[in-house]
Amino acid sequence: MEIKITKNPNPAPPLDETKLGFGVKFTDHMFIMDYTEGKGWHDARIVPYGDISLSPAATVFHYGLEIFEGMKAYRTPDGSVQLFRPWENIKRMNNSALRLTLPTLNEEDALQALTTFVRTDERFVPSAEGTSLYIRPFMFGCEPNLGLHKVKNVKFMIIASPSGSYYDEGIDPVSIMIETEDVRAVRGGTGYTKCGGNYAAANRAGEKAEQLGYTQVLWLDGVERKYIEEVGSMNVMFKINGKIVTPDLIGTVLPGVTRKSIIEMLSSEGYEIEERRISVEEVISALENGTLEEAWGCGTAAVVSPIGKLVYKGHEYVINGGKTGALTSHIYDELTGIQWGTKPDRFGWTLKI
Ligand code: COI
Repeated sequence: MEIKITKNPNPAPPLDETKLGFGVKFTDHMFIMDYTEGKGWHDARIVPYGDISLSPAATVFHYGLEIFEGMKAYRTPDGSVQLFRPWENIKRMNNSALRLTLPTLNEEDALQALTTFVRTDERFVPSAEGTSLYIRPFMFGCEPNLGLHKVKNVKFMIIASPSGSYYDEGIDPVSIMIETEDVRAVRGGTGYTKCGGNYAAANRAGEKAEQLGYTQVLWLDGVERKYIEEVGSMNVMFKINGKIVTPDLIGTVLPGVTRKSIIEMLSSEGYEIEERRISVEEVISALENGTLEEAWGCGTAAVVSPIGKLVYKGHEYVINGGKTGALTSHIYDELTGIQWGTKPDRFGWTLKI
């Protein structure tokens, strides 16, 4: 695929890597490619980062035809830059596209777009501890048409943000409220995709949790409100009686790349991992009888986030004395070691660019 590059004539001054925040500062460029029915994807280009112009009738504004991905580029100790399992994000984006009736991407072209874009803005990949370049590929319907049907004009874009921790807590334990009113997904819906609508529907409960002083919500299933699904921005895992338990992927839970990597990593170390339905009663009784040893969330933005407190129907349960557990620390160290290139990549997960 040919990618036309137009360099930003006003490059940003170097950033203070100690004050990055998450997703608030952006690089000098962005990638854009258009899709037109009958013509396919065309006009791949990297241009200066900036506002884009869309018709007020564009489908994305009315029917939410939008999907996205989250991935990171890491600065390794030898100064090089690497991506973590980009193939997984590209596959998942195509699965999301199929569900939302958006056009799929050619996997090789998508990888070329990512690597060319990151190379163009390589200087923005930070090197301070715990920082990375958060990459946000996204796709949306931009056809000016209020009729509801498969869209004929679509854009695929990539932007990136040099970032620190997703949570203010950094890698300290977060407190999570189990949501009992709103639901995030039902089987047959879009729960397994990364579409903006999933996050829009989740926002009210997230706001409520924040107002009550909790970091995020833990979702229960949308039918019985009985089974654990995922946290607002990440998948969730528990260590109960020595076993790792995580909700299975039955269409309502995001198939997280970090989730998959942790399962593969822990399996290779001999841990027993159960991907299955977990009821909230099981978690509460494990908390009460002391068999719930550790809980953590995992996702690209959040990496591995220990859960120090779970709140259910107003009752607060402290996990592992509110401290990061040994297994959670181990997972964080191993995974981030591979991502930042400080530990050998025995799985072949990284791609130097
Ligand atoms: C990610 O972890 O990359 C996500 O997309 C979650 C988002 C809420 C930041």
